[in-house]
Amino acid sequence: MDKNLGEITALLKKYNQEQLLNEYENLDEQKKKMLLEQIENIDFELMNHLYLTTKGENKNQSDTITPIDYLDKNKLYDDYKYYDNIGKKAIEEGKLVAVTMAGGQGTRLGHTGPKGTFDIGLPSHKSLFELLSDSLKEAGKRYDVTIPWFIMTSKENHKATVEFFEKHRFFGYQKNKNLFFFNQGQLPMMDTEGKILIGEDGLVKLAADGHGGIYEALVKNKMTDKMRELGAEWVFIGGVDNCLVRMVDAVLMGIAIDKEVTVACKSVVKANPHEKVGVFCKKNGKPNVVEYSEITDEMAEARDEDGELLYGESHILCNLFSVDAVERMGARPLPYHVAYKKAKYLDKDGNLVVPDSPNAYKFEAFLFDAFGEVDDMAVLRVNREEEFAPVKNSDDAGVDCPKTARKLYMNLHGDK
Ligand code: UD1
Repeated sequence: MDKNLGEITALLKKYNQEQLLNEYENLDEQKKKMLLEQIENIDFELMNHLYLTTKGENKNQSDTITPIDYLDKNKLYDDYKYYDNIGKKAIEEGKLVAVTMAGGQGTRLGHTGPKGTFDIGLPSHKSLFELLSDSLKEAGKRYDVTIPWFIMTSKENHKATVEFFEKHRFFGYQKNKNLFFFNQGQLPMMDTEGKILIGEDGLVKLAADGHGGIYEALVKNKMTDKMRELGAEWVFIGGVDNCLVRMVDAVLMGIAIDKEVTVACKSVVKANPHEKVGVFCKKNGKPNVVEYSEITDEMAEARDEDGELLYGESHILCNLFSVDAVERMGARPLPYHVAYKKAKYLDKDGNLVVPDSPNAYKFEAFLFDAFGEVDDMAVLRVNREEEFAPVKNSDDAGVDCPKTARKLYMNLHGDK
């Protein structure tokens, strides 16, 4: 242990992060070990690089952004049946699994606990997890298969998520047979001087690394191996916060198979130019998404000759990948986006600081940053009222809130 401590002290000195051992002497043996392990696992070169990106402008102004082609599910005419048959066959053969990204907490909703445990206020009081499981099971019945379900949690909410599923008898699923939980990765948080923070527990202050970490997490946790064992070739990856998410879509799958693309994504028409959704586009000729926080007004408002928004295909986090593509994407690092957040930490004297304004950098990768890896991708425009009812904000916001989601859900399903 001492030797290890010596090496780690030298490592920290090299990277100017000696503060990470400030609390070492006050920790019990188990936590001492944990802290040293955490430090050994930090990629300090990466952290240095990420800190530099917080100082300079990260965006590449010379990128060429152009609109992307898409298919409209309502205008497939005879092709609808054709794609549907191809997809149906693959689903019946057990080639599809579903992944729900459930690493987020319901903070914006004012909910304490994993977002998936949130009750949107339907008369049945079903949680988001239960609504999602209903839709998977219903599709399973339609195709006479069980669609294996993978849930991505974060360190923060893993235990609470698994306990919630246990309490609800895994919604009829069988853990480790057709239901699997895996953890997304984490990265240290840094202050504005580039120093990695120490959390309340005296350990490194870590935060979820964004849903872009999903590819690496699927591979590292051997979930893609599991998918292959189950005979799957395709993975639908969706968010936990869309109560109408349609994870099993034969037409989408048929298109992916027929067009021989490795990624197929669903979009809905943007409700207005400034709706808070990312939009599909091509960046330097490759498929991509421009996030709502990064789009210019000019681009958001641009229209074609028919008056349609040029960048109007909203990314709704409903994306289908081949298992091969997930593995390829998991092998390459994605760029990180920086968020400036409030984070409690222990100062150099071991006092807890509870900031009332942002004080720390959090680094997150976005799932769609991997889209540039693929040569081509299919985008399928679907009906918003059938597939997109996000629950992001509390009711005061008036949009993407439990009230709007409940209404959309009941319009489509009643209260089942
Ligand atoms: C997201 C998309 C946006 C899209 C919109 C549609 C990003 C960066 N942007 O915005 O392009 O138009 O949804 O609703 O995603 N999650 C994790 N781990 C994380 C972070 C998020 O599992 O570390 C999960 C959440 O639980 C949720 C989903 O990813 O299911 C979306 O995350 P959120 O941060 O709410 O994204 P939005 O800003 O709403």
